[in-house]
Amino acid sequence: MGIDRCWNLMDFRAPAKARLPKPLFHYIDGGADDEWSLRNNTTAFEKYQLMPSYLRDISKVDLRTKVLGVEMAMPFFLSPTGMTRLFHHEKELAVARAAADAGILYSLSTVGTTSLEDVARATTGPKMFQIYILKDRELTREFVTRCKAVGYDALCLTVDTMLAGNRERDQRTGMTMPPRFTLGSLMSFAMSPHWTWNFLRSPDFALANVVHRVDALGGGSMGLVDYVNSQFDRSVTWDDAAWLAREWGGPFVIKGLQSPADAKRAVEIGASAIMISNHGGRQLDSAPAPVDCIRPIRDAVGDQLELIVDGGVRRGTHVLKALALGANACSFGRPYLYGLAAGGKAGVDRVLMLMRAELERSLALMGKTSVGDLGPDDVISKS
Ligand code: FNR
Repeated sequence: MGIDRCWNLMDFRAPAKARLPKPLFHYIDGGADDEWSLRNNTTAFEKYQLMPSYLRDISKVDLRTKVLGVEMAMPFFLSPTGMTRLFHHEKELAVARAAADAGILYSLSTVGTTSLEDVARATTGPKMFQIYILKDRELTREFVTRCKAVGYDALCLTVDTMLAGNRERDQRTGMTMPPRFTLGSLMSFAMSPHWTWNFLRSPDFALANVVHRVDALGGGSMGLVDYVNSQFDRSVTWDDAAWLAREWGGPFVIKGLQSPADAKRAVEIGASAIMISNHGGRQLDSAPAPVDCIRPIRDAVGDQLELIVDGGVRRGTHVLKALALGANACSFGRPYLYGLAAGGKAGVDRVLMLMRAELERSLALMGKTSVGDLGPDDVISKS
């Protein structure tokens, strides 16, 4: 199926599956343990209904909003995802350019395959860098300096990945560190000629933001993976997050929080926003759906934090529900990766265009002309 036959975000999953070798598709698509949280992140939106109002002038609909001090054309943005070069040769640059063209924020992962400087050079759109507090604190501090030097708008600390979740699909396909491919998964590379051709003609896979550190240590490409794995630090605490927020001094986001108590700690250490997220169901299976965490967190922190709902967002109506429940914006990961794998930048462009169309249509059908008009009276919770 071509991307022009995709009519909603999840339609891109099938062409992505057809194009990608099996281990890579399941790396994107899968979650932890029984994948309950992965499924629940989306189905939880069904607990909420949108209340329409009629006979209002809806001839003009305005989706613009501001989060993290950034003007965005729509109330959602693209979550950070690592290793993008594996999914399409146009890699992060395609996603960042599509986001800039659509007027929304792009987030680059620490374990991205394009350097933060190259992304900054490729687009003038708003950008956020996703960071981990690594054992190598000097490298962590270096990221902050580099982001400041090239004008990143925000820094986002991911806190739910101190150790990797149990992703059984990756075990089965051999998408592990180091890779252990089965005959079946190796065959799937042979059966994905389009992907294989594009990979072989420019095999430029590198974790571009950390590669210099590994080179300095004398490591090769396998050394890189070992290096990154060895850098995850389970001893990181709120004190370290506070240190990083001070080092950065600009809009600071903590990604991966779900409890009101943690949201209050985020306020205390000077965060500007949190991404309410369970890492798309890839870490703690049984963690609650982000959409269900909005109300309790908003009640706990009032207006002291911007809330971004990350996980399971697949429809314009999902974004509208999240905003009505008290979120400032949403973000998503897999849908744009499916779009990228299916069609490069054109695929991501179409994902963003479809989301825009859904948002405009659904907002107008609710009788609203601006996303800022959404509030608690516009959403009903199913008992
Ligand atoms: C991710 N995610 C992620 N998060 C992060 O902070 N740093 C990272 O490097 C990555 N890498 C990554 C790779 C892939 C393939 C996926 C699917 C996800 C998590 C991501 O930012 C986001 O939280 C989820 O994708 C949100 O869930 P949905 O929208 O995919 O349902």
